[in-house]
Amino acid sequence: MRKPDSKPRSLLRSEQWFNNLARADQTAIYVERYLNYGLTREELQSGRPIIGIAQSGSDLAPCNRHHVQLAERVKAGIRDAGGVPFEFPVHAIHEMGKRPTAALDRNLCYLGLVEILYGYPLDGVVLTTGCDKTTPSQLMAAALVDIPTIVLSGGPMLNGWIDGRRSGSGAMIWQSREAYAAGTIDYDQFMENVISSVPSIGHCNTMGTALTMNCLAEAMGMSLPGCAAIPAPYRQRAEIAYNTGRRIVAAVGADLTPSAIMTRAAFVNAIRVCTALGGSTNAPIHLQAIAAQLDIELDIQDWQDYGEAVPRLVDCQPAGDYLGEDFYRAGGVPAVIGELLRGDLFDGETQTVSGIKMSELHRGCRSRDTRVIASADQPFQSDAGFAVMKGNLFRSALLKKSVISPEFRQRYLSDPDSPECFTARAIVFEGPEDYHRRINDPALEIDKHCVLVMRYCGPLAYPGSAEVVNMLPPDHLVQEGITSLPCIGDGRQSGTSASPSILNAAPEAAAGGGLALLQTNDPVRIDLANNTVDVLVDEATLTARARALKIPALENQTPWQEIYRDTVNQLDEGGVMRLKSHYRSLHKTKGIP
Ligand code: FES
Ligand code: MG
Repeated sequence: MRKPDSKPRSLLRSEQWFNNLARADQTAIYVERYLNYGLTREELQSGRPIIGIAQSGSDLAPCNRHHVQLAERVKAGIRDAGGVPFEFPVHAIHEMGKRPTAALDRNLCYLGLVEILYGYPLDGVVLTTGCDKTTPSQLMAAALVDIPTIVLSGGPMLNGWIDGRRSGSGAMIWQSREAYAAGTIDYDQFMENVISSVPSIGHCNTMGTALTMNCLAEAMGMSLPGCAAIPAPYRQRAEIAYNTGRRIVAAVGADLTPSAIMTRAAFVNAIRVCTALGGSTNAPIHLQAIAAQLDIELDIQDWQDYGEAVPRLVDCQPAGDYLGEDFYRAGGVPAVIGELLRGDLFDGETQTVSGIKMSELHRGCRSRDTRVIASADQPFQSDAGFAVMKGNLFRSALLKKSVISPEFRQRYLSDPDSPECFTARAIVFEGPEDYHRRINDPALEIDKHCVLVMRYCGPLAYPGSAEVVNMLPPDHLVQEGITSLPCIGDGRQSGTSASPSILNAAPEAAAGGGLALLQTNDPVRIDLANNTVDVLVDEATLTARARALKIPALENQTPWQEIYRDTVNQLDEGGVMRLKSHYRSLHKTKGIP
């Protein structure tokens, strides 16, 4: 412990609370109450780093719930390395449980965590991530405050099985609802199918948004190598929790902060890894949002420029057949990075939380099972990235080409004169309720040459933007075996969905985007060679429709919905908060309160 007459030395951030001898009274106030549950003055006042553990697990957040146990191993690692752990809760986000949508809460969780990281005596933080938005929300906050940070993911559930087949979370719901709609299974069988996909603790075992975002956090250097893929119940998960605790103390000593790791090169790496994974269409939104906290220029077009020509190397559902345990055994993210390095598709000069460059960590990492992770020279698919679509209905929207099935290609893309082009009749729905009410309405005369359009489900309208664009065709088409139609929407779709939808359209209809002008029966031309989507209606008609347009009033149900709507930007900009002031590297530029 320092004495009042001891020589000044450079203080840890937490010492400005707990050990500031120039303000003995203030320090006493800060110290005294943390002693009331048994901490000692020695722990708080002898220059030991105070490490936060941002706890995202709770009974309300089941995908992350085992972090409550894992945190004990993190704490052991922190203590063995000389630090003092402080565990605290972050706002619960559960993808399947939060109404109207978990996406609404990403910015709320971010705001809450920013206040904690900025306003409390923390020198570094371990983020406990897993379920979809729990990863980007926490990374956004850590990026903004910019104190040393390591991401500890919770890992995917074990593989689900049914009748000898792999049963993937999320994916099984989409598959079984087709069978349920076609009348080939009853409700109990439907529920049994779905439950088979959730055999253990952990987040979704498919390459949905959760596994994608945790893989991308690792690919950007924010986790210890190998972290993302370890299944939640494996002993290696507890081991990496311990090692993460040890390492964060060293990262504080080296002042290794997120801004030194998540550079533009790291984001470009993440874009490429996302393609190699066959990753979620929600990833662009979240990476934009994280980059925005660091003032890094990342444009939605970067996804096409850097990601589209990358091959798909991972055969996990929904783009492929396998699940999280298979991905782990085949080598996980290190194998993918190793293969991309060999293919010259990854910048190995980027830094990691380990303090070791990517190339050094991953040189020699190879797939251990090429059925699950392909080698760079024999990928599952070439040019597998997202196409960024443009046209007179929106300035940008995404299409995940890796999930376009051969059957879909055959149906829409087989005209020898224009093999990548088709025109479809639009059927327009004003949100998910309208879709459910009218999808089976015979008056719509929906056939296989229609495109289903869902509008008023973007970040402003829903609010938060709903995962609803992957619309099932009407029952009569499903019964004929047509289980997907082209879809367009200003909302999102689940990362576990295999629908070839054009989604995340920005600006959304509620913000005056072109989708608001579309009418049922309009012809819409989709050109996959030039990545365009256009309604074939003349300019004068569109102008007249724009003049007559009345955007439905947006009604807030909670105070946060109002704040969210007042501040949020569009999905191609990350759906982040537009604020009057500029915030950046908070603890360095704004001082300590
Ligand atoms: Fe939580 Fe998929 S619902 S990870
Ligand atoms: Mg989702």
